[in-house]
Amino acid sequence: MSDPGDDLLTELKLHGGIPAHIAVIMDGNGRWAQARALPRPAGHQAGMAAVREIVEGGLQAGVRYLTLFAFSQENWQRPPSEIEALMHLLEDYVERESEELRSNSVQVRILGDLDRLSPAARAAVDGLMAATAAGDHLTLSLCISYGARAELTRAARQLATEVAEGRRRPEEITEEAMAARLYTAGIPDPDLLIRTSGELRLSNFLLWQLAYAEFHVTPVLWPDFTRQHLFEAIRDFQRRERRFGRVAV
Ligand code: IPE
Ligand code: IPE
Ligand code: MG
Repeated sequence: MSDPGDDLLTELKLHGGIPAHIAVIMDGNGRWAQARALPRPAGHQAGMAAVREIVEGGLQAGVRYLTLFAFSQENWQRPPSEIEALMHLLEDYVERESEELRSNSVQVRILGDLDRLSPAARAAVDGLMAATAAGDHLTLSLCISYGARAELTRAARQLATEVAEGRRRPEEITEEAMAARLYTAGIPDPDLLIRTSGELRLSNFLLWQLAYAEFHVTPVLWPDFTRQHLFEAIRDFQRRERRFGRVAV
């Protein structure tokens, strides 16, 4: 049986201009659960299927970099029971998906302040990064315990230390030097940002890297997000005119 996304995927590939890097704010798990009178962690659990969908859809479409916002620095302020459930889900995700990701040549990177993770969650993500290090089809960056302001502050501190120690002159603090000290070092900036659940804000996500990304906001709640929604977002992207501050030609 043919998949309903097949025709659209063919159309996208014929059009050309598949975004190399897609970043996603995976939002709406709590509301998905609430609508079903379920506890919030049930929404996070359901959201795991959507992670699988977007990774597989990204591979099908030929996306090279996928960066998913899974847990923000500010999310540490949620109730301990919800945080604990999320950390267990992270461990489950690693256990269930590691082999599939490796065999699909997906390389996983984890971006964020990993020192705050529980020892078990930390060990799981370290193992996932090691197991998938050779992947070269898709780089999947999972932002966990991630905050863009903290990321920028950390980069500034590293550069300041280099200057204080005489290893760098102040005029050598360039945009390239900053970018090389972000968690995303070596990854091109996102072309497309998708946010689910209809919220029109960045919530401290990739403030530097999203400078010229196209935004696609969908009302779909994250657990309901499928590869078809990803393909629709790519079609929306392909209709945009990116000007980067210049005049249209
Ligand atoms: C996104 O869903 C997942 C995380 C932030 C961890 P939410 O948990 O924010 O869901 P809503 O926004 O409350 O519906
Ligand atoms: C952003 O969603 C963080 C993640 C999706 C992981 P939030 O639900 O935490 O953001 P706000 O609170 O609505 O801005
Ligand atoms: Mg939310």
